[in-house]
Amino acid sequence: MGRIDRLIAEMTLAEKLGQLTMTAADYAVTGPVITPLSEDAIRSGTIGNLLNLYGAAPTRRIQKIAVEESRLHIPLLLGFDALHGHRTVFPIPLAEAGLFDPAAWESTARVTAEECAGDGLHMTFAPMLDVSRDPRWGRIAESPGEDSFVGSAFAWAKIRGFQNGSLADIGAVAACAKHYVAYGAVTAGREYSPTDMSEGMLREVYLPPFRAAVEAGVAAIMPAFTDLNDVPMTANAPLLRDVLRGELGFDGVIISDYHAVAELLNHGVAGDLAEAAALALKAGVDIDMMSDAYRLGLPVALQRNLVAMEDIDASVRRVLSLKERLDLFQDPYRRGRADTGMTAQSRALARAIGARALVLLKNDANVLPLAARKIAAIGPLADAGSEMRGPWGGAGRPEDCVSVLQGLTQTGLDVRHAPGVAIDGDDLSGVATALDLCADADAILLCLGEAALMSGEAASRAHLGLPGRQQDLADAVFEKAAGKPVIVVLFSGRPLAVPKLVSRAHAVLAAWFPGCEAGHAIADVLTGKVSPSGRTAVSWPRAVGQVPIFFGERPGGRPFNPNDHFTSHYSDLENTPLFPFGHGLTYGDFELSNLRALPGDPLTVKVDVENRGAHAAEETVFLFLNQKRPGVTRPLLELKGFEKIALRPSERGTITLTLPRPTGQAELFAGPNAASLLSVSI
Ligand code: BGC
Repeated sequence: MGRIDRLIAEMTLAEKLGQLTMTAADYAVTGPVITPLSEDAIRSGTIGNLLNLYGAAPTRRIQKIAVEESRLHIPLLLGFDALHGHRTVFPIPLAEAGLFDPAAWESTARVTAEECAGDGLHMTFAPMLDVSRDPRWGRIAESPGEDSFVGSAFAWAKIRGFQNGSLADIGAVAACAKHYVAYGAVTAGREYSPTDMSEGMLREVYLPPFRAAVEAGVAAIMPAFTDLNDVPMTANAPLLRDVLRGELGFDGVIISDYHAVAELLNHGVAGDLAEAAALALKAGVDIDMMSDAYRLGLPVALQRNLVAMEDIDASVRRVLSLKERLDLFQDPYRRGRADTGMTAQSRALARAIGARALVLLKNDANVLPLAARKIAAIGPLADAGSEMRGPWGGAGRPEDCVSVLQGLTQTGLDVRHAPGVAIDGDDLSGVATALDLCADADAILLCLGEAALMSGEAASRAHLGLPGRQQDLADAVFEKAAGKPVIVVLFSGRPLAVPKLVSRAHAVLAAWFPGCEAGHAIADVLTGKVSPSGRTAVSWPRAVGQVPIFFGERPGGRPFNPNDHFTSHYSDLENTPLFPFGHGLTYGDFELSNLRALPGDPLTVKVDVENRGAHAAEETVFLFLNQKRPGVTRPLLELKGFEKIALRPSERGTITLTLPRPTGQAELFAGPNAASLLSVSI
């Protein structure tokens, strides 16, 4: 009999349910602690998994209790959210997606996994793979953006990076793809609200990143908090059991979201905890995170015949197999040998990735790179190092983060700073001082935007403008600037609807939340040491009323025609986004030509690229497809590929992409974003 069969045969019901339970460790000011109650539960084998405990010493201490003092010596599984870095904080996923570079995506996941493993962790609740087209939803910050093809490529890269080919690897952690599925489509962009969508939309847009995650061998998957078409995802047997396990072939562990099993009562589908637990287990949820519904409810559910012992055993088997694959039985202390911190290499990577994730939205008259030496750095985000971590700061420490002010000052520029206003609030008393600084400067850098926690979980916004009185500050600065260059560095966890700000600024750099090396990365781009190359992975609306706005719309029967009133349009705003998907300027000047498709299956597509500018830079080319299918409407554009090319001034190159040959009539489009494209029929 193998280890797992033997253990299952020996386990009491309480011990089995312990393996199906994940509890949070408390986090004291001085570091992670476990309450005496939880320690006793670990000793008695009735808690088998923990979240939110990290660090070599505390994880080793707690693992020792499980391994040495519990009856069956089963090691704990320790998980933590490392959404965009652990000790080293990288740009938020929405920003990192804008690199359009799978090797780079993988490299940050690799460093994150090494750091997590060094801190004694075995699993991270990442990557987040929810396609999101609604910037009101705060969790768009955690996502790879609006497109399914990008989400799928992101899934592959992240899972490769986290799991490193083998979960037994000492520097690997199990990835947990989340939140399955369609969470990004919450009604009205309001956090935790229900979702409704067609089967076609689900399968073509929201499901593929999870399919990719399964193909990439993801160890775990977390269902979304939300309900989809009337059925809560935590109890969604058709989508968890039939589609995820049956159709996609996922045989790993399904972990509920935080307290989600108990919330089945709020959804109104369970009458008590026993019913909630039974629904989740039957749907395929193996681990109950933070509800205690399995420990308290499943014994009752067994008595009521709502579940059978085989259902419980099947989940226990999956959890123990994961622990086995992580090599925890062999050597429970193999991860967490020494507390990890940031290294020079991880910082260098954060700086490089941080710079490449910045999206230059606008650069009139090439005011960037900066020619001026005397800079007024105005705004509440100029000297806000800890905000740079973004909504999932992981184990990153605020004091390790470099602010814009620090980064720019280190370049030797003469930088003076005044915040003017706070990120939020009504106080305008600091504006006068800020304006005085502007009067004395050659160029003005306006560092504006959201606080880190205005995006992320439970951070939906109904307004997508600048919070507080920042727009007033900006207006006053524009008045005062009198022709001096005004460069906006915009921090946010989502695209903001700021047309007025954009139209008045000479240059706008979308910084998102760049992570711990923010100030250095931003200084590198502002000074021209690095040419910006980030592309927005999500469309920017002009106004909230356009949301959801995305490039993959279907044409409709009355597509917009400026000469025909009875076509699809707003009477008070144009249809187009403020910035389309893929938009992002560089310091180069690229021309694309000669798009051609070579026969064959897969189809080979080539396009020539020339840098006619004066700066070396990196161009990104997107390949879109429009296909016709009998009887069904198709999106105007479907993304099928992307590639980058670095070219010096006057240098030419060719980008080659391949895609499965579409059947029937189709047209290919290639270009630097979803709005300006070359096309060819195939
Ligand atoms: C979030 C998850 C996260 C979990 C554990 C929940 O509130 O929705 O994304 O993994 O907490 O921290």
